[in-house]
Amino acid sequence: MKHLLSINDLNRETIQQLLDRAQVLLEQVVQQNTQLNTLSGQVITHLFFEPSTRTQYSFTIAAQRLGAFVLNPPINLTSMTKGESLLDMVRTFIAMGTQLFVVRHREEKTAQWLADSIQQHAIVINGGDGCHQHPTQALLDLLTIAQYKKQFEALNVAIVGDIVHSRVARSLISGLHIMGCQDIRLIAPPELLDAKMTDKTAQVEHSIEKGLVDADVVVCLRIQRERMADTDAPEPDQFFKQYGLTPERLALAKPTAIVLHPGPINQGVEIDPAVVDSPQSMILQQVTNGVAMRMAVIEWLCA
Ligand code: CP
Repeated sequence: MKHLLSINDLNRETIQQLLDRAQVLLEQVVQQNTQLNTLSGQVITHLFFEPSTRTQYSFTIAAQRLGAFVLNPPINLTSMTKGESLLDMVRTFIAMGTQLFVVRHREEKTAQWLADSIQQHAIVINGGDGCHQHPTQALLDLLTIAQYKKQFEALNVAIVGDIVHSRVARSLISGLHIMGCQDIRLIAPPELLDAKMTDKTAQVEHSIEKGLVDADVVVCLRIQRERMADTDAPEPDQFFKQYGLTPERLALAKPTAIVLHPGPINQGVEIDPAVVDSPQSMILQQVTNGVAMRMAVIEWLCA
């Protein structure tokens, strides 16, 4: 049984197959507002221990467009509040027919632990674990890039913002490496960077003005206050002044550059509202692509 716990579980050929399939599902199902019955009768359960708008509900729509039953139990209303363990709750959902779980948790490797614990009894998809991995976000980001850019090998990708706390950055950097991208710039103040993430293809740049020059893709990240002490979080105004993605700064990138943001966006903190609404912004396209990519992932894992 396959699980999807990290983008590093996938090779280039599999990622390309998922990109191709997601594009077909986007055009033939998502954009047509239709439904397939591939997973008719199957049960998918979402266990989200952290808040989510995009991931939880795009997985929900994806599973429903494939014909599955979907459960979205609010964790605070489950019997975990009466002392049931996570594993006992998961076994209970398996006994009710769940074949696939999507799990989001603040603790790193929770999805991995669950996959190891339940063995062959159900499939697990990691919907985000702490600062570690968010593989379907990386896949939908790669799909969005592939829709606008011909070759990953030739791209300059600039990632700006709170990189150290970002499972999105970790997953996307690995995904870009797997797809052959050689030029990734990590733009952040030293306290929001992780030296372990830099190598010969991912270079650090503390100046946003220098880092954005000639970029093909600009990925903007919010400050993840929920993962830091209040005293460590940068002042929003100060951060915007030094690292905010403004139209003037975006103009340093190639005129054809696209802007990605995994969301949620904090306008006026990491990104200027004028950039959010500019023709270069693919932020809502990412959200739509997320439904198609999650359909492709579920289909592939359940095949
Ligand atoms: N990108 C992302 O994971 O967004 P949500 O937290 O809204 O799911």
